[in-house]
Amino acid sequence: MRQQTLAIIKPDAVQRGLVGAILQRLEEEGFRIRALKMVHLTKAQAEAFYIVHRERPFYDSLMTYMSSGPVVVLVLERDDAIDYLRQVMGATDPAKAAPNTIRRLYGTNIERNAIHGSDSPESAAFEIPFFFSRWEIFQSSGAPL
Ligand code: RTP
Ligand code: MG
Repeated sequence: MRQQTLAIIKPDAVQRGLVGAILQRLEEEGFRIRALKMVHLTKAQAEAFYIVHRERPFYDSLMTYMSSGPVVVLVLERDDAIDYLRQVMGATDPAKAAPNTIRRLYGTNIERNAIHGSDSPESAAFEIPFFFSRWEIFQSSGAPL
């Protein structure tokens, strides 16, 4: 099923000049980029985005990290986009991620792991409109949603 998902190239990857390599990999994996922008999240915006994690022990550290520099936010479209992106990303901890996954190739540690991807249709339905209006997705592709 054709599907959209939300990806974020995280501050560590932007800072280390890995945006191009990660975008190339995503396109090679068959994702169409339907919308893209660079933003520098405030801590309050990062907290709102990752609200489901507010009880997790790593929450404060994650908020500091996610607001530490610009990120690149993307709407990606492909058959089975949500699950497929999670496979291409690899496990949360780059050291445990499968060979040739984005986190294994480009992640630094369990927190600074290069990329985010929506983990379910419910997450994607929250995360895509968090960053992009319907108009931004529509006009960047020239095709209806
Ligand atoms: P994401 O939401 O960013 O795609 O990552 P994920 O599903 O693989 O992992 P999740 O459990 O949702 O955690 C969100 C992000 O929090 C940081 N994290 N730090 N210090 C730690 O033990 C720890 N665990 C997770 C990572 O940046 C992770 O991607
Ligand atoms: Mg997650």
